[in-house]
Amino acid sequence: MKALITSGGRGTRLRPLTHTQNKHLIPIANKPILHYAIDYCVQAGIQEIGIVYSADSRAVPEAIGDGSHWGARITYIPQEAPLGLAHVVKISQDFIKDEPFVFYLGDNMVVGGLERFIDAFEKSNSNCHLTLARVNDPERFGVPEIKDGKIIRIEEKPKYPKSQFAVSGIYIYDKTIFEAVNHIQPSARGELEISDAHQYLLDHGYSISYSEITGWWKDTGKPYDLLEANRLILDNMEADLAGEMDADSLVTGKVRLAAGSKIINSTVRGPVIIGENTIIENSYIGPFTSIYDNCYIKNSEVEFSILLKECKIIDVDIRIEHSLLGNDVEIVKAQGKPATHRFLIGDQSRVELL
Ligand code: DAU
Repeated sequence: MKALITSGGRGTRLRPLTHTQNKHLIPIANKPILHYAIDYCVQAGIQEIGIVYSADSRAVPEAIGDGSHWGARITYIPQEAPLGLAHVVKISQDFIKDEPFVFYLGDNMVVGGLERFIDAFEKSNSNCHLTLARVNDPERFGVPEIKDGKIIRIEEKPKYPKSQFAVSGIYIYDKTIFEAVNHIQPSARGELEISDAHQYLLDHGYSISYSEITGWWKDTGKPYDLLEANRLILDNMEADLAGEMDADSLVTGKVRLAAGSKIINSTVRGPVIIGENTIIENSYIGPFTSIYDNCYIKNSEVEFSILLKECKIIDVDIRIEHSLLGNDVEIVKAQGKPATHRFLIGDQSRVELL
């Protein structure tokens, strides 16, 4: 079994974070999203992994490397333009050859790993195994219509969904998927849709089996999804206090504090993860917060948020919550007169004031 992981696309819904970095490299609980995908594949015993990346940037190959970090072999497959998920499969045929494979959308996260889905695929003898998750907003996803326990139709982002299920971004295929992706036509939005490839399989008598994801699954397409995925990962993490905290600080719940970081006269209520060389001083850090390396938080309160590296929050007297800060962002108290809010904000940023 091989694996094919996506890391291309435009990431438009995660702007402005994706103006300067590939969305798959954004850290969740201080680890790039793409690492989770590779971890899941390796945990399932897969060592041959193809990663499809956007040909206009080498950021992903440079950040991830040859796979030796995971004891795996990673082959990089460039995609000239984001022409759709079925296009991703199509251009990867030389890498996959005739083997069955897991197709994993690199922006998806799932607790519990992939083994159970691979087992279900092997037992079912089907040509394609889909994983379905019950969601409140199926119109954002590929949606199956199910009758008598069988998938009879699949539609991409339907206006009127035929079920409450999303087809999640973890698919397992045998070689018949290549017949499908080589026969379908681009959709109205100009993409070769993976849902159309699945519909092709159904229309041509191939079998599609499925598993329901009963734990949690997240597509990290939108900013709130990142906070939610962060919350779920932190909820499942183990505590580890490698950094320092002084006697005036109170650290409760699951907290990971990396080496070189300090908590001074502060309250940190887990689950919280703090990266390397970060200082938390006279501050409160509340549950479900990830703070990356080289940040400085002083006289401020932060909760349910993600801060990327080198952020500074100093003397801010309202609690920062439900927030996503990119690299090297500063939120500080304005000094001097007039006493006003002052902004220096890049394209497509968003600020909500009281
Ligand atoms: O997350 C599950 C959903 O993923 C499914 O329910 C949908 O059926 C499926 O079409 C897909 O929908 P999205 O709109 O979420 O796909 P998105 O464009 O966000 O791309 C998903 C991943 O694939 C992401 O890692 C970016 C990458 N990608 C996407 C395209 C279109 C590529 O690498 N190349 C591409 O051409």
